[in-house]
Amino acid sequence: MYTHQELETMIQQCSRCPLSQSRKQPVIGRGSLKADIMFVAEAPGAQEDVQGIPFVGPAGRVLDILLASAGLTRQDVYITNIIKCHPPGNRDPKPEEQEACIPFLRAETTLLRPPVIVCLGRIAAQKLIDPQFKITRQHGTWVHRKGYWMTAVYHPSAILRDPSKLEETKKDFQSIIQKLQEIEESKYPL
Ligand code: URA
Repeated sequence: MYTHQELETMIQQCSRCPLSQSRKQPVIGRGSLKADIMFVAEAPGAQEDVQGIPFVGPAGRVLDILLASAGLTRQDVYITNIIKCHPPGNRDPKPEEQEACIPFLRAETTLLRPPVIVCLGRIAAQKLIDPQFKITRQHGTWVHRKGYWMTAVYHPSAILRDPSKLEETKKDFQSIIQKLQEIEESKYPL
């Protein structure tokens, strides 16, 4: 198992796909390495590319609102992406870029072993939960896979484009807290 620092160095030095040529900085996940919740989005945006930190742009402000609505801060959770380098023009990550980068996400997951993984948006949900995942219909639903409880919510950028999605996403965040309580209670059945 790699330490977070080792992973960061490997990601800094990575040239597994052409995005390593166009990126300014790779963006490894941030937050608590003891977090019960790991959020996985798709790829760093333009501001993340400059700062090397996930969700520092406008979508990050929406994410902070959602976290706060569930009584959480960034220090309580871990936030990362399927791919660690910004795709030019903010296009969707290509399948081969996702494949090249997924070992880093696996290593982050092995390091944290979070009971709950939350996909932020369709791209992450289709990579981690189901290639046919329909975010409009299936957000807020849960699957249990390989020891992880997994769900997906709208990507904060989708809420920026359509603020009417904010309230239902707050409800999905409540269901995350509820799931953690259920997991905790199931450890002590009496
Ligand atoms: N959007 C993402 O999908 N990831 C980030 O880190 C920032 C914005």
